[in-house]
This record gives sequence, C-alpha cells and structure tokens, in this order.
Amino acid sequence: MTKIILDCDPGHDDAIAMLLAWGNPDIELLGVTTVAGNQTLEKVTTNARALATVGSITGVPFAAGASRPLVGPQLIPEEIHGDSGLDGPQLPAPGVELDSRHAIQLIADIVAEQPDKSVTLVPTGSLTNVALFARTYPELVERVAGVTLMGGGHHTGNMTPAAEFNILADPEAAQIVFEAQWPVTMVGLDVTHKVLATPDRMEQLKKVNTDVSQFIAELVEFFGGSYMKERRYPGPPMHDPLAVAAVADPLILTTVRAPIQVETKGEFTRGQTVVDLRRTWNPDQAEDPSALGIADDYEADAHGVRHCVGIDVDADRFWDLLTSALTRIGTTNFRG
Ligand code: BDR
Ligand code: CA
Repeated sequence: MTKIILDCDPGHDDAIAMLLAWGNPDIELLGVTTVAGNQTLEKVTTNARALATVGSITGVPFAAGASRPLVGPQLIPEEIHGDSGLDGPQLPAPGVELDSRHAIQLIADIVAEQPDKSVTLVPTGSLTNVALFARTYPELVERVAGVTLMGGGHHTGNMTPAAEFNILADPEAAQIVFEAQWPVTMVGLDVTHKVLATPDRMEQLKKVNTDVSQFIAELVEFFGGSYMKERRYPGPPMHDPLAVAAVADPLILTTVRAPIQVETKGEFTRGQTVVDLRRTWNPDQAEDPSALGIADDYEADAHGVRHCVGIDVDADRFWDLLTSALTRIGTTNFRG
C-alpha cells in the first residue's frame, strides 16, 4: 500500500486521477491539496470538494494552497477545461469541509506524522505548493519517499513547442522540485499522449455502469471535445491519472534514469524540461551506473540518480486499473 498526497488543480484529468487514487486498493490517499492551475485556486478547490461528493471520499483532509505561481501571472487553459475548470457534467455540492491549514502546512504535518520515507507526493498541477513545501520545510524533504509528478516531456510540449502546461505554469517552482534531494519520477507528455480516452476505451469504462463511471464519461466528452478542437486528437490524454497509476502499479510505466533540468530563461523554451538521455540506465538493473559500464565522468551527479523519466506505458494495464478502481468505488448516489 503506497501512501500519497495528491496535489491537484481539477481539471478533468485531475478529477479522474483523484477517483483512481480513491478507488485503487494499493493506494492510501492521505490528503488532497489544491493549487491554482486549470482555473483559479477558488474554482479548482470547489471542484476538488465536489469530487469528494462524487466519489464518496471521506476521512481525507482537503486543503487549498498557492493561488498564483512564484513568478509572473497565472496561465489559465480555459480552452481545455472551460470556465469552471471542470466544464461538462453538473457538479454536486462540495462533500467535505476545507481544512483550515494551508496546503503546505497539511503536507508538512502528514509527512512529519507518517513513518520516514512512506509518503509519495503526486502533483498533477503546477509545482508551486510542492516547491514552497520544500523551501519552507527543508528538514522534511528527505522524509518524503518521492515525487511522482505529471508534467513536462522530452519530445514535445503542449502549451508551446517546448513546454508542457504544468511546468510552464510555474517553471521556477518546477526547477526547485527537480533540484530538491528527493527522488522524482516525471510522467510527461511522452507517455501521457500514449494513453488517450478514445471511444473504444470509453466503452470499457461505461460497462462499469455506475453513476461515477457515467460522470467520468461526461468529463471525457467535454475534455475530448477540447482536445479534438484544439489538437485534433481522437481522445483526450489521461495525463494526471497516469501519474497516480504509476504509483499504484509500477509495471504500468517504463522509466529510465536521466537528469532533468527546467529551462527558466529561454526565449522560446521557457518551461521546457531538459532531459539528458545521452546515457541512461534502467533503475531495475542497477542503482549505480558504473555497474553497467557507464563511464563515471558522466555528469549525472545526484540528479541522474534521483530523476526518472517515463518513456513507455502499458495502456491496457492502465485501463484495467482505472476500470477496477471505478468498480470498487461502485455507485455513490451522488446525484440523489
Ligand atoms: C496537464 O495540464 C493540465 O491542463 C492537465 O490537468 C494536466 O495536469 C497536461 O499538460
Ligand atoms: Ca492537472
């Protein structure tokens, strides 16, 4: 069982990620924190609390975090997620009270209370909260088991040719997160674009035949419409659920170790994740690159050992995982 804190900005795919985390038997959801991203902090926080009603999520604290990036104005991708950040299905009333703590305080309290290296942070929005946590509580960074984040990409961006939304939304925060002394797994566009909610995949989910699976179908209809209009994709990518899935079932994602830096200055490349794939090694084969004959003049430094990047994904396994989680949640009667 992996204990996680989901730091999100719901967001259609964040919503599915939250329901996956709640329904998966191998994940213990210890907290949900929100960050401005797909919409204003106020809107995404209201959405997150409404999702608690949808999934009948109880006993999990929800706390609001940063309302803007460390530097510069907030970017809002309204063309993808709409005016509410979660356009499409009718949302129920929020099902949980908001925790009075700031997200950063909630993360710190959970990490301090839980056993050493037992909590994985799963950010599916911009990295502002996680960076502020690392800077405010540097003594807690090494207690965190790791950060498995949705963001970035090696081959492409989506907001610009080079940059993915979550990283571009706060590149300075992202660089702080990649530099901190915890293991980081990057679930980026290279893999999330291989998991599209195409009509045949949705048929599988609809067979679950509950109000929650119907809700996800409605989310995907709106989200898919945005991706069809903006990008001509046959289905919307399951970006954020893939980060949760990677934690729930390590066989879903193939990763390699590679140092990752965030471009914060480039005229055309601000927000790009620069992944050094010149020499990579499979973490399952060896912790130490020299064991695989990789020259020790390779300037991987601590970064190379701590960073993993997703390069391939078992999409069938992902859809089975999501289907099982929804089956496990069952019908919640959130529509009364
Ligand atoms: C990421 O950007 C957001 O719009 C999605 O929720 C996802 O986290 C994909 O680039
Ligand atoms: Ca998101």
